[in-house]
Amino acid sequence: MTKKKILITGGAGFIGSHVVRLFVNKYPDYEIYNLDKLTYAGNLKNITDIEHNKNYTFIKADLVDANQIHSLFEQYEFTDVIHLAAESHVDRSITNPLDFVMTNVVGTVNLLNAAKASWKNNLDNHLFYHVSTDEVYGSLHDGGFFLETTPYDPQSPYSASKAASDHFVRAYHNTYKIKVVLSNCSNNYGPNQFPEKLIPLFINNIRNNKPLPVYGKGENVRDWLFVIDHARAIDDVFHKGKVGETYNIGGFNEWKNLDLIKVICKAMDKKLGRPEGESEKLITYVTDRAGHDLRYAIDANKIMNELGWKPSLQFEEGIEKTIDWYLANQEWMDEVTSGNYQTYYDKMYTNR
Ligand code: NAD
Ligand code: TYD
Repeated sequence: MTKKKILITGGAGFIGSHVVRLFVNKYPDYEIYNLDKLTYAGNLKNITDIEHNKNYTFIKADLVDANQIHSLFEQYEFTDVIHLAAESHVDRSITNPLDFVMTNVVGTVNLLNAAKASWKNNLDNHLFYHVSTDEVYGSLHDGGFFLETTPYDPQSPYSASKAASDHFVRAYHNTYKIKVVLSNCSNNYGPNQFPEKLIPLFINNIRNNKPLPVYGKGENVRDWLFVIDHARAIDDVFHKGKVGETYNIGGFNEWKNLDLIKVICKAMDKKLGRPEGESEKLITYVTDRAGHDLRYAIDANKIMNELGWKPSLQFEEGIEKTIDWYLANQEWMDEVTSGNYQTYYDKMYTNR
């Protein structure tokens, strides 16, 4: 059997770094190639523990550069792809939708084209795994859950770009017979998430006694999954998923934003030795996000029943681990929040 040479895109980002670590450590016989542009969200410090492993190679490249991606397939002869690289923050997509079209749509099609050209003589021996989000299904208003069969109804420029990329992956399967598999996951939390997203942003602001900007009334609901459980699910889908299928991934763990924020505040008071209720005083209601999706909730029964995956951590344990990680990794936080981050923060939150 040919040796697996797996191209993982976006492996310097939040989820990608956990996926790369899992594959490098668990599969010493695979060669793992981590392709990343290193945007503001990509950080090689997320994966220093595995950077010297014999089965690991880092490639700095931009998915939007079609020629570069084609050359890399020629040079390394990747056997499979796990595609995570993306622009991933909804608020940024509202400010700069075209960046999302370029990386998420054009970048995905470039990757599909390069894989198609490289694999054309033996399509059956190769797999293209596309990692996506539950946000493609839109917003739930009247109860219920997102199923794999729920019609797409993306509501933000981010989710529209991810939905378009999902469609292209399925179209390449149907038209060119590339073997594909997809997964759509709920909100992730855990170590190494860039602090523009709710949980790390609020942990960092509490530590620095800064206001906690709650959008609208804080009534929006998200379904949270610990990032390492997502990485474990990606491992299962890659190895056991049925070609052409989609798997929804989630932990049946819905939280209203305000309730979640209060859990974080309480835990932070304890960890920082502050009087109970101190961090909650930082809560500040700000103008709502434009087009803010009300509720996401995943029905994860298919992956649980068919692939035997289930989350390993209860939310209470996961959030505790997450807070501990950010408090223990102050240097990581200080580094990613210096420089351009300040400009971003001022632009997004001043006079909001
Ligand atoms: P992230 O923003 O933390 O990381 C994205 C990575 O992609 C970064 O390392 C960045 O440098 C890289 N990248 C961006 N543009 C690139 C380009 N043009 N070429 C090459 N690399 C580029 O994102 P994340 O939260 O880790 O999300 C990873 C994937 O999982 C995305 O596809 C996202 O849609 C999906 N997803 C995320 C969540 C979540 O809660 N974060 C939930 C479900 C699905
Ligand atoms: P986020 O982490 O950006 O993920 P997503 O929008 O992809 O679900 O936001 C999670 C929820 O928290 C979402 O309902 C928006 C809200 N939110 C705030 O209230 N304040 C903030 O500063 C941020 C970043 C998010």
